[in-house]
Amino acid sequence: LQQVLFRNSEEPPVIFHWFPLIGSTVTYGMDPPRFFRENRAKHGDIFTFILLGKKTTVYLGPAGNEFILNGKLKDVSAEDIYTVLTTPVFGKDVVYDCPNSKLMEQKKFMKVALTTSAFQSYVPIIADEVSNYFKKCPDFKGKSGVSNIPKNMAEITIFTASHSLQGSEIRNKFDESLADLYHDLDMGFSAINFTLHWAPLPWNNRRDHAQRTISKVYMDTIKERRAAGKSDQQDIMWHLMNSTYKNGVKVPDHEIAHMMIALLMAGQHSSSSTSSWIMLRLAARPDIMEALYREQVEALGADLPPLTLEDLAKLPLNQAIIKETLRLNAPIHSILRAVKSPMPVPGTKYVIPTSHVLLSAAGVSASDPAFFPQPDEWEPTRWNKDSPLAPRLATTTGEEEEKIDYGYGLVSKGANSPYLPFGAGRHRCIGEQFANVQLQTITAMVVRMFNLRNVDGSDKVIGTDYASLFSRPLEPANIHWEKRDW
Ligand code: HEM
Repeated sequence: LQQVLFRNSEEPPVIFHWFPLIGSTVTYGMDPPRFFRENRAKHGDIFTFILLGKKTTVYLGPAGNEFILNGKLKDVSAEDIYTVLTTPVFGKDVVYDCPNSKLMEQKKFMKVALTTSAFQSYVPIIADEVSNYFKKCPDFKGKSGVSNIPKNMAEITIFTASHSLQGSEIRNKFDESLADLYHDLDMGFSAINFTLHWAPLPWNNRRDHAQRTISKVYMDTIKERRAAGKSDQQDIMWHLMNSTYKNGVKVPDHEIAHMMIALLMAGQHSSSSTSSWIMLRLAARPDIMEALYREQVEALGADLPPLTLEDLAKLPLNQAIIKETLRLNAPIHSILRAVKSPMPVPGTKYVIPTSHVLLSAAGVSASDPAFFPQPDEWEPTRWNKDSPLAPRLATTTGEEEEKIDYGYGLVSKGANSPYLPFGAGRHRCIGEQFANVQLQTITAMVVRMFNLRNVDGSDKVIGTDYASLFSRPLEPANIHWEKRDW
C-alpha cells in the first residue's frame, strides 16, 4: 500500500517486495533473464526493483540499451559501481581506479595493439595451444570418454590468451605458480564482494596476496624485456611499454602490470564461458558439428593444413557459431551504472533520480521474437541473411553505420540495437575481435580433433549458473568426446 500511495509518478513502477533491504535480490539472482521477462510482461520495458537495498531501474529493449549504454559522462558512471570490486583485483590507477578519460586512453593503447598483423601471429599460437592441451590433458586419454568441459575450456582460455596477448614468458609461468594465484585473485570477483570487498576475510587476504605477487611477476618481466631491449613476439605488454599518455607521461610499469591483470580477467570469464557453451551446444547438435567439419574440408582441403587468420575468414558457419552462442548465452547478463544527475527518459513521463542505479540487460532483446524468429532455438544458420530465421536488425538494412570516437577508437554510434553481447558506448568491449579470433580458432581445432555428443545422446542443453558475476553453464557439464584420427 505504501508503495502505491507514496509512489512518485515521475519514477518507474517498483516491483512488489516484502522486505525493504532484500527487495527482489533473491528472485533476480536466481535467474536474471526470467526475472526481466516476467516483469516486462507486467510493467513494460522500464521498472524498478530493489537489489541489496538499492533502487535499481531496468530499461529493456533497444531504446533502453541506448539510454543506458550511450548515457553521457555527466549522467552515468560505471566506476562508481565497479571500483570496489575491481580495484583490489586489478590494482591501482587503471580501469575504474582512475578518471574515465584515462581509461579511454588505456583502452586505446590496448586496442591499437590488437591489429590484423597481431591476430595473424595469434592464430597459430592459439591453434598449437589447443592441440597440445588435448594431447597432454589426462581427461582426454584414449579414443573416447566423458569430460566436464567448462573446466577444460577455462584452462584452454587462459593458456591461449596469456600466450598470445602477454607472451611466452608469462604463458610458461601458468604451468608453475600463476594458475593458482589467478584462481585466488578471482575469488575477489564474487558478487558478495560488492558489499564485503573491504573485510579481512580469508579469501580477501588471499586475493590481496595474489594481486601483489602477480603484479610483481609482470613488473619483473617488463624489467627483463627492457634490459634485453626487445620482445620475442608482438604482444600487448610490449606495446604498452612503448606507450605515452597525452600529457607526455610514459605508462608506468605498475599500470602496465595492472592492465595485464585486467585484460586477462576481463577476457577469461567471458571467453571461457562462451567456449564452454559452444562445446555444449555442439554436443547437443552433432549435425552442426559435422557441417563444421565439412566446411573446413571444403574450404581448406582434406588434409586440413595448419590454421591461419585468412582460413578463419573462409569459414562462415564457424563464425556464426560464436554469434549465435553469444545471442543466447552472453556471459554478461546485467550492466550497471550509477546515476549522476536526474535523467528524463525520452518519450515517457519518467525521470530517473540520482538515488537509483541503472541496469541494462541487452540479452533480453537478443531473445525477443520481435527481432529473432523462434528466439529460443540455437540455430547458427540464422546468421545467413537468406535464412527464414534471419535476425530482423536495424543494422541489416545495408545503411552505412554512423560511428563516434569515445577516445579509444571509432565505435558504432547506435547502441539502439537488440544484439549487443559486447556492450556499447564508451565502455564497449575492446576484446571483441580478439575473442572472435580466439573462439573461432578453438572451435575449428576442436571440430578437427573430436566428435562431440551429449552423454545420453539427447539434444538437451544444461542450465545456467547465475551465482557469479559472469553467467556460465551449471557444473558438472559432462559431454561425451570421441577422437577423429590423430
Ligand atoms: C567491456 C563482453 C571478451 C576486455 C565489455 C563489456 C561487455 C563485454 C558486455 C561492456 C561492459 C560495460 O559496459 O560495463 C565481452 C564478451 C567477451 C569479451 C561477451 C567474449 C566472448 C573480452 C576480452 C577482453 C575484453 C577477450 C580482453 C582482451 C574488455 C575491456 C572492456 C570490456 C577492457 C572495457 C571495460 C570498460 O570500458 O568499462 N566486454 N567481452 N573483453 N571488455 Fe569484454
